[in-house]
Amino acid sequence: MIIEPRTRGFICLTAHPKGCEKNVMDQIEYVKSKGAIDGAKKVLVIGASTGFGLASRITSAFGSGAATIGVYFEKPPSEKRPASPGWYNTAAFEKEAHKEGLYAKSINGDAFSNEIKQQTLDLIKADLGQIDMVIYSLASPVRTHPDTGVRYKSVLKPIGGKFENKTVDFHTGKVSNVSIEPAQGDDIENTVAVMGGEDWKMWIDQLQKEGLLADGFTTIAYSYIGPSLTEAVYRKGTIGRAKDHLEATAFTISDSLKAVDGKAYVSVNKALVTQASSAIPVIPLYISLLYKVMKEKGIHEGCIEQIQRLFQDRLYVENTPTDEQGRIRIDDWEMREDVQARVSELWAEATSETLPEIGDLKGYEKDFFNLFGFKVDGVDYDEDVNEIVEIPGLQ
Ligand code: NAD
Ligand code: NA
Repeated sequence: MIIEPRTRGFICLTAHPKGCEKNVMDQIEYVKSKGAIDGAKKVLVIGASTGFGLASRITSAFGSGAATIGVYFEKPPSEKRPASPGWYNTAAFEKEAHKEGLYAKSINGDAFSNEIKQQTLDLIKADLGQIDMVIYSLASPVRTHPDTGVRYKSVLKPIGGKFENKTVDFHTGKVSNVSIEPAQGDDIENTVAVMGGEDWKMWIDQLQKEGLLADGFTTIAYSYIGPSLTEAVYRKGTIGRAKDHLEATAFTISDSLKAVDGKAYVSVNKALVTQASSAIPVIPLYISLLYKVMKEKGIHEGCIEQIQRLFQDRLYVENTPTDEQGRIRIDDWEMREDVQARVSELWAEATSETLPEIGDLKGYEKDFFNLFGFKVDGVDYDEDVNEIVEIPGLQ
């Protein structure tokens, strides 16, 4: 079939297998071009199919020659409908990994569930024995608790007061004012239940209980801070409470890992266009200004550049540098004073009329479509493609 983008709000309902494959190939090329990283050799990536998790899997495999198991939640293709992008990404990744003789298998299902955890544990036991790294990169709006069956929904709301600021619809370029009512009722605890650290700890505890963690084991999860411009709705909002919890959980996990001389890290990453971040109000306007400024200064990075630098310059060096709260910072270039000062100036000037000039709306839009394999350079979209693609290592 000929596959075209079909968008609804901040999601795209279709994905292009060739475009997704090209994205993955480009990321693999990038990692190879930066040389070998002396990193983990047996790696489990939870949330492995898109965004930072996919970049982490690619960097582990093609930077350090790691065997990887990926866990993700993606829709398979059918005769009527293409798959979700992470399906095609994973198919391309595993095909390339296998070509180079690298072990790569995956499990598609709800990572929050006991069933998927058990299936993953069994696979590790059977194939790898032990693992030396878990990358935890889930982004989900909902979580069904495995013990109670309660289904939690996360919300993106400010805490304490109404949030009013600018936002942009990146499809139309229209800048408007948005007003978001503050969290109420169980909003905060629900969001913490979905995006906080409880599930991360459950994974590590279960792996450890079954003796599947190698000596010197490391685990890492991803967080975000961002500037004062987005603070009320992000870091000081409901999602920020979940990130506080995730960051605190790193310490709890590190304590329980003492027996294997292990350590849990959180890395604070840069704001980037992913399926998760497109859904957050105000963030797309911030990102379009940030991209403009960082590209002008020659310091723009995507997921793969971020993770490659994280592994090479932070994680796998003698003494991993962290901030006062013990977090790895790879958002250092985003948070640079000159970058943030310029973004603030532009923010004040941003209107529907000025944004095409002062912001990188084009870059935002291209990145958004690229997530789904569209508008990828070097792909012929007039070509008939087979939407039925198999993932070679899918269990
Ligand atoms: P993403 O949407 O690209 O990736 C989410 C991944 O989680 C996918 O692989 C998806 O299949 C998987 N997933 C979702 N629900 C699942 C479930 N129930 N079971 C199994 N897999 C499931 O998101 P991302 O932006 O790469 O986010 C990953 C992490 O990075 C998040 O913790 C996010 O907060 C953090 N982060 C993101 C940004 C950003 O700007 N995008 C910045 C800093 C940190
Ligand atoms: Na991810």
